[in-house]
Amino acid sequence: MPDYRRRAARESMTVRVDANGMMADAIGPHGVSRPEIDALRSRIEKVSHGLRARRESGEIGFYDLHSPGAVLDDIKSLGSELRDEFDTLVVLGIGGSALGTKTLLGAQPDASRQVLVADNVDPSSFGQLLDELNLERTVFNVISKSGSTAETMAQFLVVRDMLLRAFGAVDYVKHVVLTTDAEHGALRQIVHDEGFRSLAVPDRVGGRFSVLTAVGLLPAVFAGLRTDELLAGAKWMDERCASDDVWTNPAYLFATLLYVADTEHRQNIVAMMPYSDRLLSLSAWFSQLWAESIGKAVTVDGAPAHVGQTPLVAVGATDQHSLLQLFAEGPFDKVVVLLRVEDHGREIPIPCAYSDLESLAYLGGAGLGQLLNLEQRATEVALGKAGRPVLTLNVPQVNAFTLGQLFFLFEAAVAFAGGLYGVDPFDQPGVEESKRLTYAQMGRAGFENRRAEVEAWVQRKRDELIV
Ligand code: PA5
Repeated sequence: MPDYRRRAARESMTVRVDANGMMADAIGPHGVSRPEIDALRSRIEKVSHGLRARRESGEIGFYDLHSPGAVLDDIKSLGSELRDEFDTLVVLGIGGSALGTKTLLGAQPDASRQVLVADNVDPSSFGQLLDELNLERTVFNVISKSGSTAETMAQFLVVRDMLLRAFGAVDYVKHVVLTTDAEHGALRQIVHDEGFRSLAVPDRVGGRFSVLTAVGLLPAVFAGLRTDELLAGAKWMDERCASDDVWTNPAYLFATLLYVADTEHRQNIVAMMPYSDRLLSLSAWFSQLWAESIGKAVTVDGAPAHVGQTPLVAVGATDQHSLLQLFAEGPFDKVVVLLRVEDHGREIPIPCAYSDLESLAYLGGAGLGQLLNLEQRATEVALGKAGRPVLTLNVPQVNAFTLGQLFFLFEAAVAFAGGLYGVDPFDQPGVEESKRLTYAQMGRAGFENRRAEVEAWVQRKRDELIV
């Protein structure tokens, strides 16, 4: 395809941020004003320059994942090897090691191989998943950047034991692929000791930023999804986010609007409401990204912060008949992010019938996709008229290219928002603390003193408050 045609195709598939419903001149006093954004100009420049310098020095790894070079060949070749050998791939992972893959799978239901994601240690659901597998035809992809997360390691031990019993100490190895840090952690040690096939999570890419690494790409290749398009989408969005100017950089605009809404208008909840079931998992992925990156007790200078917007997962049109009541009339504490999908990839016509019943007759001749999009518009207008801020993302279609754009958009936005809040968006001390308290209770060596802390807390519980 000639370049000009490729570019036109890319343009027509571009995800766009529509800020109209956020602005005070459209929705009144609960909206963001231009002077509020202009007042941030020097801060915006400083954060932007700081991020660029850290990107160029290689300190922040996620920005360049769309251009992986030879690493992608390794992922593709292992993926196709696994496709030849197995029918099902089960991801064992949690948090950033699972949510990206769930998003990829949820958005693209046309996978040519089955990929399942087990991201909890609930014995009931995990047990059922294991019970239903044909082990002979299944490979397990254990994913943990740290190589030590209790849930994933426990799943691995259960599966390993099952595989050992089924196939013996030599053959079981081929049913496991490990994705973990290139050098550190118990999983890497196990790769060295037992010779499992493995891939690396690149240094300087945190869990929630890792969907475009082997973490998400190996399951995607196995499922037969279009990884090149996914990466091309991320690159396209990266190019669109090159400017320092908030009004032309979609990631900066998205982040700045949410930041101002939170800090100036006390809108400390962000509800992401895609009008497509296929983007529901994206909403969950975004929740983790926004919550874990911005929700921090201290600034980078160590000053008290306690900042962050609470993400909320909703879906249109379903939640028009539930959460929308609160969004439209409850407290003015939310921004609603609507994801509008122009083309759903298929249409189901609504037949004409009951011409004498006006509550049904008007539907005939329209399509379900058309109805869904009109409902999205209705929500946008209803919220706007009620003075509620709405940020709309226009997504031409749900495909690998637009997904890649969305991943990059939100990751670049959260990195920028972290800078505006003055917190480190790349750490997660609150998550690490709960990991340590779990290790302590499970008797992991080195965590003994933390165990007493948990016991003291439980002993302080008063019986009269348990009803
Ligand atoms: O974003 C993060 O860093 C976390 O959510 C991790 O992905 C999650 O805790 C799992 O960690 P790991 O991949 O080390 O097992």
